[in-house]
Amino acid sequence: MAAIILDGKALAARVKREVAKQAAACKRAPGLAVVIVGDDAASRIYVNAKKKDCAACGITSYEFALDANAGEAALLALIAELNARPDVHGILVQLPLPAGYSEQAVIQAISPEKDVDAFHFENVGKITTGDFVFAPCTPAGVMEILDHYDIDPAGKHCVVVGRSNIVGKPQALLLLHRHATVTICHSRTPDLTAMTRQADILVAAVGKPGLITADMVKPGAVVIDVAINRNEDGKICGDVDFDSVAEVASHITPVPGGVGPMTRAVLLRNTLRAAQRSVENDGKADIL
Ligand code: GUN
Repeated sequence: MAAIILDGKALAARVKREVAKQAAACKRAPGLAVVIVGDDAASRIYVNAKKKDCAACGITSYEFALDANAGEAALLALIAELNARPDVHGILVQLPLPAGYSEQAVIQAISPEKDVDAFHFENVGKITTGDFVFAPCTPAGVMEILDHYDIDPAGKHCVVVGRSNIVGKPQALLLLHRHATVTICHSRTPDLTAMTRQADILVAAVGKPGLITADMVKPGAVVIDVAINRNEDGKICGDVDFDSVAEVASHITPVPGGVGPMTRAVLLRNTLRAAQRSVENDGKADIL
């Protein structure tokens, strides 16, 4: 049996076309501030990709590159400035930050209305209760892939491997809101295979090439690979041993071309939403 490939790249292209259409119709040109601190090579690649995506969708991107030793106070001052700028609707501080910066302090300084990553406590709280405006980009992208391929998580056992604040935890919550039974596994889970073999939908979000092998997958399961790693040959790969798992799974996301493009597309949509909400909220501050 060969699994159906879940084509995140094609789906992301559709989302981006829709974002471009709505951005052109928006009373205010959406703007995204992308902040990069230091010279991490991977972060530079991601930031460049985000700027390119914005340009393709009619979103204005503003890059702010700070020296690694600029200091947290300078970064917080920049965020305060961006919070106040009417032409900036989304603020993204590329993580990880260099040593010496408190990521939590920096994230919490971003206005929740401009927090297009949905990392601020206020947005995290809303994700927990289900009252969210922005969902974090990667888990939201996964949900959109499932929806597009008519894979309904309701009543299914979803096993999420990885418990990060960016992916694992919010992914589990989004699946729970859609009535799945959810198990979160992590590095201290004693028998990972025993858990993953129970999954109707398996989400791998660890960052370890080859972690999920065919024997860990229930025949007919849907396998979503969130990770972006490099293998020993320098090739981009996920956590899932794609070739062998594709023989067992019913559906599988490739890496590259699966979840990654959807993460980027959701960021654009969150930025558009932030701009649309700023238009809707015009004048409301005066009333309060
Ligand atoms: N670094 C890796 N992934 C992300 C992300 O989704 N948002 C931000 N801000 N930084 C990241």
